[in-house]
Amino acid sequence: MKQELSQIPITSIILDEAIYPRKGIDHKRVGIFAENIRDGFKFDPIEVELAPETSDTYRLLDGAHRWSAYKSTGKDSVKVFIKELNGTDPLLYAAKKAIGPRQLTEEEARETARRAYKKNPKLNPVEIGKAIGRARRTVDNYIADLRAATQMGMDIKVFRMNRLGIPQDRIAKRLGLARTSFQYHLPKMAALPNSANTDLSQGFTVSQVAQKHGWTDPMVWSLALEGKDDQERFKELGWGLRTWDQWDFNACDERFGDDWPGRIPAQLIAHILFYFSRPGDLVLDPMAGGGVTPDTCLALDRRCWSFDIKERSRRPEIEPHTWTLSSNGLLTWPVSSKTKPDLIIFDPPYFSKKANDYDEKSISGFSQDKYLEFLEAFFVLVKHHVKKTTKLAFINADWRDFQNTPASEEAGKGGILIDDYLEILKRAGWQRTHIIQAPMSSQRFNAIVVSAMQKKRILGVTSRYVIVLKQSK
Ligand SMILES: C[S@@+](CC[C@H](N)C(=O)[O-])C[C@H]1O[C@@H](n2cnc3c(N)ncnc32)[C@H](O)[C@@H]1O
Repeated sequence: MKQELSQIPITSIILDEAIYPRKGIDHKRVGIFAENIRDGFKFDPIEVELAPETSDTYRLLDGAHRWSAYKSTGKDSVKVFIKELNGTDPLLYAAKKAIGPRQLTEEEARETARRAYKKNPKLNPVEIGKAIGRARRTVDNYIADLRAATQMGMDIKVFRMNRLGIPQDRIAKRLGLARTSFQYHLPKMAALPNSANTDLSQGFTVSQVAQKHGWTDPMVWSLALEGKDDQERFKELGWGLRTWDQWDFNACDERFGDDWPGRIPAQLIAHILFYFSRPGDLVLDPMAGGGVTPDTCLALDRRCWSFDIKERSRRPEIEPHTWTLSSNGLLTWPVSSKTKPDLIIFDPPYFSKKANDYDEKSISGFSQDKYLEFLEAFFVLVKHHVKKTTKLAFINADWRDFQNTPASEEAGKGGILIDDYLEILKRAGWQRTHIIQAPMSSQRFNAIVVSAMQKKRILGVTSRYVIVLKQSK
């Protein structure tokens, strides 16, 4: 552990309660220390670390009483060791230091153990015990209820990923579970839905059951709709089934997916699933964002593998993967598996739109050439890793630079139109079978914007298409 001795202003030090193991400062002790300081007594340097997300504020790791005493004697700078903890839990480090001079009280030890475990359930009770000066058994007692809740949370995650057809080795890796502890979760899977199913059969609503058991709504839908066919599921979910190639939905269904830039309505995904896949099929969503596709797959009984550049700890079913074009123009497939998807649902960020909302490596920030080069390489890659019969549903729109330009004066250059996508898809070996209109709602534009656009004869874009393709021979 690195440390550096330094003299720093006393005002740059803070007591961060999140990593302070004691109930409070003992003022009697501070008084004695202050008297010692006035008498010229030299104390060991205080220990601090740089406070998170700051560059000139330090939080106390050890020496809260000395620090208070220095302040009360009017000192404006103190000698400190600036520590770099390199992954050691700061609360446990502070606790270990605190018990040197005086044991933590029962309440302090219990609270410290619980706070440390809540923040990081992977901490081992022996490690916690050593830091707070208690035996492992005592720590086990302190955290028993938290542990049961974490285990339950873990069981639910395993259940959800299992239900989506994610292979066991990937579930274990994603959840940070050793093979051995994974085996401990598996046998519980069959019985896990029992109590939620009982509540459903007693007439409780899906969202009531979800709340009560800490499940997500789509997970409970997947239980509630078991045994039903696609059409019955649409009906129960309140989604009118569109018979023609125009899928108009005014709003996203809040029950499916998270609030996410570029979120698409679950009804749209459901229609792709209805027409282009069958129950039990494997769907792959390479850029899954807020998770509408896996959620909808749960409700419609499809398996689903999904990926995104963004790490989503609340959504373990979305596996982290960044599709990156290497210098030789190739991309890598994220999994090695004999199982291949039946349907790919690809909803990439549109060219240049919302570039600031996504990760800096997102393809939305690419130049026009690079964006198209990426997509072409992606479509080629997909073809290599799927079955001959796999279909591709590609969601995109015309990107015209209409922001400040009357329609008749738009240069056309610099934009990407659906024709451009169709061209590269054809080159990559995909043949269009359907193009479905699935416009974005225009309700999100306010009257002032609309009136300004009309005055300038600007023609906006709300069109959006689902292009469905099969592989050309
Ligand atoms: C339009 S959003 C998908 C929205 C999703 N269908 C939903 O309804 O929530 C596109 C996603 O692509 C992801 N993305 C962009 N570039 C990526 C890359 N190179 N690799 C992986 N994911 C990427 C972004 O993080 C973003 O979540």
